[in-house]
Amino acid sequence: MMKIRQSNTSDASAIARVRVESWRAAYRGIVPDDFLDGMDAAQWADGYRRFLENRPDRLVSFVAEVDGTIVGMAAAGPNRDDDTPYSAELFLIYLLPGYWRRGIGLKLVDATARSLIDLGLSSMIVWVLAENWPARRFYEALGGRYFRKRSTDIAGSPLQEVSYGWAALSALIRQDQR
Ligand SMILES: CC(C)(COP(=O)(O)OP(=O)(O)OC[C@H]1O[C@@H](n2cnc3c(N)ncnc32)[C@H](O)[C@@H]1OP(=O)(O)O)[C@@H](O)C(=O)NCCC(=O)NCCS
Repeated sequence: MMKIRQSNTSDASAIARVRVESWRAAYRGIVPDDFLDGMDAAQWADGYRRFLENRPDRLVSFVAEVDGTIVGMAAAGPNRDDDTPYSAELFLIYLLPGYWRRGIGLKLVDATARSLIDLGLSSMIVWVLAENWPARRFYEALGGRYFRKRSTDIAGSPLQEVSYGWAALSALIRQDQR
């Protein structure tokens, strides 16, 4: 059975495993292999635990569980960039590769949007690597509007990111949920 619930610090290790496996599968060929192969789940777990412990303002963090095992995660909060017209930002959304394309991403976004609205935020942006076409298709399927691109780098490799925005978070709420 699939369940979406809010995450807590004791989920940090499972969340890190999801992120590392998702990165290795989704970013192979985009991000340098040695960086992907060298990702240390324990280190990422420490980083996420500290992030949750610091209780960032209006942080929203969910996990998706299937039969009690965490297979996906999403985190969002106030937009880190005040140079865009969106009040919230989807920081992270990752699923284990075996769980892609089963509607779990949609449900994580639905839960995230509801929480952000409850916290007084009304619109949302997400940044995605320009070459990550499956994720771009996902955001487009959710009604995200292309906003703009920017340069970034991962492990010294120059990359482009693009953003998608939702002027109204309410558009991300699925009526068949809850
Ligand atoms: C991106 C991600 C979170 C999407 O979650 P998901 O559960 O796989 O997506 P869903 O099943 O909810 O998809 C909803 C709709 O989005 C679109 N979509 C999703 N993945 C797609 C793909 N690979 N290609 C084309 N369209 C896609 C489809 O319209 C889909 O509906 P459908 O399956 O009925 O056609 C997930 O695939 C993932 O973890 N990918 C790897 C990590 C990643 O890239 N994260 C984003 C970083 S910015």
